[in-house]
Amino acid sequence: MRTVINSRPKRNWTQDAPDDLAAALAGKVVGQLPAVTAIVPYVQMFQAGLSPDGRPVGVFLLLGPSGTGKTRTVEALASLLHGSERNVLKIDCGEYQMDHEVAKLIGAPPGYLGHRETQPMLTQAKLNAVTSDRSGLSLVLLDEIEKAAPSMARLLLGVLDKATLRLGDNNSVNFERSMIFMTSNLGAGEMMRALEPSFGFQSVSGDRPTNVERMLDRIGVRAVRRKFSPEFVNRIDAVVTYRPLARSSMEAILDQQLAALQGHVNLRLAARAFDLEIASGAREFLLDQGTSAQFGARELKRTIHRQLIQPVAAMVANGQIEGGDTVYADLADDGTKIVLGIDPPAKSKRPRAA
Ligand SMILES: Nc1ncnc2c1ncn2[C@@H]1O[C@H](COP(=O)(O)OP(=O)(O)OP(=O)(O)O)[C@@H](O)[C@H]1O
Ligand SMILES: [Mg+2]
Repeated sequence: MRTVINSRPKRNWTQDAPDDLAAALAGKVVGQLPAVTAIVPYVQMFQAGLSPDGRPVGVFLLLGPSGTGKTRTVEALASLLHGSERNVLKIDCGEYQMDHEVAKLIGAPPGYLGHRETQPMLTQAKLNAVTSDRSGLSLVLLDEIEKAAPSMARLLLGVLDKATLRLGDNNSVNFERSMIFMTSNLGAGEMMRALEPSFGFQSVSGDRPTNVERMLDRIGVRAVRRKFSPEFVNRIDAVVTYRPLARSSMEAILDQQLAALQGHVNLRLAARAFDLEIASGAREFLLDQGTSAQFGARELKRTIHRQLIQPVAAMVANGQIEGGDTVYADLADDGTKIVLGIDPPAKSKRPRAA
């Protein structure tokens, strides 16, 4: 059995059909429904013009193991709202581990050393630059918040509470048309241990998923309360714990990534584009190799790269694949790697381009 990846163009989500947003987001962020159901109502409040004044549209803390879709959620929302994943004001909190680095977010006051050189990271212009003709909602992503110096949380208190940030030059930034997402791995290690067979997975595996979810939520919230002050935690609208990805979710993500790969081939190679078909054995192999409790779907991405994209790219570079060909990926007889073939098979004997 072979899986054909080339798919028909999908209907675009538009703001006229807000109910579709949850479905579209759930389609892009697989297996993390609690995140979708927590976030989407806040977007709809904004779209309806009903978000309260004097505070950000929504403040979310996304927790859970690596590679489960936390950052992806914000990028996917940006692509649905604005048409591009890049319409996100992203702050890598790992770059603000020291207090003087946190000060760079707001810039130095006039007259202070570095006032001219330091462009604050969080300005109104930067916030506005990530909106679009389609939506005036700015998405702000504070990635890996636990890595930032404690002064970051203090700085953010005003933002979360009153939706304003005063800059070094005394201008202020208004976050009333912004959604703020903080991501963190806090508690993720403990969550993974709790889910491991030797650490009690057996005892929870028979439970309904909601019980496992509640257990992960509890671990996450406990870790957050240990790290941040109650004032800070109380200003968060929803703490969402992402779950380790189930095999069925990994399958859906694999299909997504293969479809994205085909889309990339069609777009980049245009007339030289070819079709990719993946036999079920090769699919299973990619899933087995790409499943990692530690790295989540990141490992799947890496596996697809190593096992599929790189060998296909080498064949393109060598002139072995021509526009209109079908490239088949199958599992080698010994089950240790993927082998590629071209239809019609005679073409695979085509001489290499110089
Ligand atoms: N739930 C998911 N649905 C679809 N794709 C996913 C999902 N989770 C992860 N991926 C894929 O894996 C990649 C890495 O995921 P992402 O960046 O969202 O991880 P993360 O949860 O933010 O992890 P980290 O804590 O390490 O930052 C994404 O770019 C996406 O391609
Ligand atoms: Mg991330």
